[in-house]
This record gives sequence, C-alpha cells and structure tokens, in this order.
Amino acid sequence: MPTPPSTASAQLILDGTSYELPIIVGSEGERSIDIRNLFNTTGYTVLDNGFKNSAACTSTITYVDGERGVLRYCGYAIEDLAEHCSFVEVAYLLLHNKLPNQQELDDFYSLLGEFALLHEDMIHFFDHFPAAAAPMSILSVMVNSLVNFYPEMSDNPRENLDTTACRLISKIRTIAAFSYKMSIGEPLVYPRHDLSYCGNFLNMMFDRPVRPYTVQPEMERALNKLLILHADHEQNCSTSAVRLVGSSGGDLYSSISAGINALAGPLHGGANEAVIRMLEAIHADNNDYMKYVNKAKDKNDPFRLSGFGHRIYRTYDPRGTIIRETCDEILRILDVQDPLLEIAKDLEEIVLNDEHFARRNLYPNVDFYSGIIYRALGIPTTMFTVMFALGRLPGWIAQWKEMHGDKEIKIYRPRQLYTGSPARAFVPMEERT
Ligand code: ACO
Repeated sequence: MPTPPSTASAQLILDGTSYELPIIVGSEGERSIDIRNLFNTTGYTVLDNGFKNSAACTSTITYVDGERGVLRYCGYAIEDLAEHCSFVEVAYLLLHNKLPNQQELDDFYSLLGEFALLHEDMIHFFDHFPAAAAPMSILSVMVNSLVNFYPEMSDNPRENLDTTACRLISKIRTIAAFSYKMSIGEPLVYPRHDLSYCGNFLNMMFDRPVRPYTVQPEMERALNKLLILHADHEQNCSTSAVRLVGSSGGDLYSSISAGINALAGPLHGGANEAVIRMLEAIHADNNDYMKYVNKAKDKNDPFRLSGFGHRIYRTYDPRGTIIRETCDEILRILDVQDPLLEIAKDLEEIVLNDEHFARRNLYPNVDFYSGIIYRALGIPTTMFTVMFALGRLPGWIAQWKEMHGDKEIKIYRPRQLYTGSPARAFVPMEERT
C-alpha cells in the first residue's frame, strides 16, 4: 500500500532555516509528519525512546483509536468479529484483507487440516528440553526449526505464503499441545480432522487414553473468542520484532520466532501469566489489595500492577471489556467458582477509583481477565502466553506479508544519539590503572 499523498505541511525551523515537512493523513484522519528525509535535508535525527511517537510504516490491517477505545481488523469492529466469526475466519481476514466466502473458508480449513501434523523427527526435540523449560522458549525454538523441515518459503516467499501461513497456524497449535503433554509425561494426542481449530487444540491438550475428552461447545466458543481478540494489534512490540527480523530478509519462521520471544516478556504477552501470579499473591495475603496498590504507586519500587496500562489505550481496552463479559459468562456456564475473579474485580474497582492511576489513564488491558478464562478451561498458567501466541500468529503473518509487499519499506534500522565518551587516545595495557 503506497503512502497516501501529503495534504498539508508542517514548518520546522532549525538554526534559522525553515523546512517544510509533508503531513500524511491516514484513512481514519490520523495525522503524521513525514520525516523520512529529515536527516538528509537537515542533518538532524529525532529522539523517540520506545517509539512513543513514531509510525514505523503504513498499514491496512488493524486500526486502534486509543482515546475512544476502538479496535478494528481490516475495518471490522472487534466486537462484531468476536461475536460472529470463527478464529479461522478472522485469520483469513487478516491475511487477505477480506472476509472469506464459504468456499474460501472451506478451502482454508482444509489446508489447516492438511498441515496439522508435525514432522515426526521434530517430536524428538521435545525430549531434550529440561522438564521445567519455559513453554514460550520451546515454542520459539520449534517454530524457528520449521524452516529446516518445510523450506518452501525460502524459494518463493510470497507465492507460497498461503500454504506456509496455514502450515504455521495449524502446526503451532500442535506444537503447543505436544509441548504441554510432554511436560506432564502424557502420551501425545494427534490432531483430528473432525474437530474445529479450537476443539482440536482442547482435545490435544486434555484427551487421555484412560479418560477420553469431550470438547464442550462453550469452552470451544470461549477459546475461539480469546484467539480472535488476540489476533492482531498493529505495531506492538512482538509485531515490530516480526517486522524487524523480516525487514533484513529473514524468513517467516525466524521472524515469527522473534515475535514469540518478544511476546514472552512480562510487559507484553507475559503479563497474562503475571496477572494470575499477582492475584494469587493478593489472595495468599488475605486480600491485602492496598499493599500491592501502594507498591505500584511507589516510585522506588519497580512493581507494576500486571494487566493494567497500555501504550495506546487511554481508556478501557475494548478487548478487556469483551474478555471481562466472557469471563463472567464462562465461569457461570461451567459452574466454576474462582476466587481470583472476585479479587480481580475488586482490584479493578480500587484502581479505577484511585486518583494516582486515573491521572495515568491506567485501565485493565487484554491480559487482565484472560487468565481467569484459561484457568476455567483447564489451561495451566505456564501456557497462558503460548495461548496469546496462538492467537497473535495470523496477525504476525499478515504484517510480515504486508511488509514484503510494501515497496517503500526499508530495513528496520533506528538511529541513536550517542552520549558516550568523546574520542580518546588508546591506552596500552601496561599503562592502564
Ligand atoms: N502499574 C503501575 N503503574 C503503571 C503501570 C502499571 N501497570 N503502567 C504504567 N504505569 C505508570 C508508570 O509508572 C508511569 O508513571 P509516571 O508517569 O509517574 O512515571 C506512567 O504510568 C506511564 O507508564 P509508561 O511505562 O511510560 O507507559 P508505557 O506506555 O511505556 O507502558 C505498559 C505501557 C508497558 C503496558 C505499562 O502500562 C505496563 O508496564 N503495564 C503492566 C504490564 C502489562 O500489563 N502489560 C501488558 C500490556 S498489553 C499487551 O502487551 C498485550
């Protein structure tokens, strides 16, 4: 997608010289000052720690309005997609920028079915991880290794992308479930043709030779919704990692593997696990909320309330709203009493009514309630961020694909402002103190 034409300009005065900088307007009226030629024309760079103000690319995939709490994939409201679509349909939407018709969806499903198995040689990889290995590091290693078993992408990345996308979307689910089964010493359960994407995952996780598992439609629906809500979120940390690796010419598998590693951090996708650990700690502390709230306010304490705050949202994260409702619903349907849900709700109320957090626009984000649903589905806490990765995968692939089709894209290579020592004379070893 070429950059939209400039409609106005900004004036920048540097050292007495005036420069005109084009202003580019996005399709939702967002305005961006085009500084692509800034260094060449002025010799200046811009300093923007954490890229708080910098648009790294143009994109047609996801729109977020952080002030109003709006999220859309390819123009469709997240609320509608979560209510009416399957995760597979949304994956197709992100990859093709259009909702599939029935035939296209059937074809997409059959590709997913075709690629669900994992090369048997790869299954031996699992034997060599320590029992307590982090599931996200296993996932990243396994995805990175796919290129050796399925190298088609290297020959013709764009032409084979659909096949590779389905292969990845299907296999990542098998890898995730297999790694869980291996970690608890149970026999692997292979994917089945007759189950849906989410049903298959639940079955691979929980079916046992001694106790066959029946996929409950409510659980399938809840998982489907969670995966849709996580499917893309424009240029977040992990997606930027995917694009960054891809921008060097790195293949899709290694780019996604980088995204998985970025997602694992507790400030990003790892927050869903951290939330549950925090709620458990509050529970163990006799619901002493204020201890944690005060720690989070203390400038000298690095502690943060996991599941609160977001770089873009200055109001309730729309995904959080849907997840909160789903959480209430699924716990009621499954008749699960989870004390962490009440603790989460109480903590939310305290935070929303506290002036310190209000001034910083801290609201629950997508990670705050998702873990409580995963617990109700029987998914262990250590697997929560893997679940996020399963959901985010179509978005990562779509962003990677978009970048490769963008003629204006350059290798990601930020500049820096050097603040180290000025040039100094080399000191031979014998003269060093
Ligand atoms: N708890 C307490 N204080 C917080 C929190 C929090 N969760 N989040 C932000 N703040 C405070 C900061 O201390 C800072 O206060 P100050 O202005 O007095 O210094 C202010 O709010 C702004 O915080 P920044 O770190 O500048 O905001 P940024 O946009 O860089 O960070 C982030 C966003 C990383 C999500 C942050 O809110 C955070 O750490 N949240 C907790 C982790 C979390 O839930 N991550 C998941 C995010 S959603 C996702 O990635 C899928």
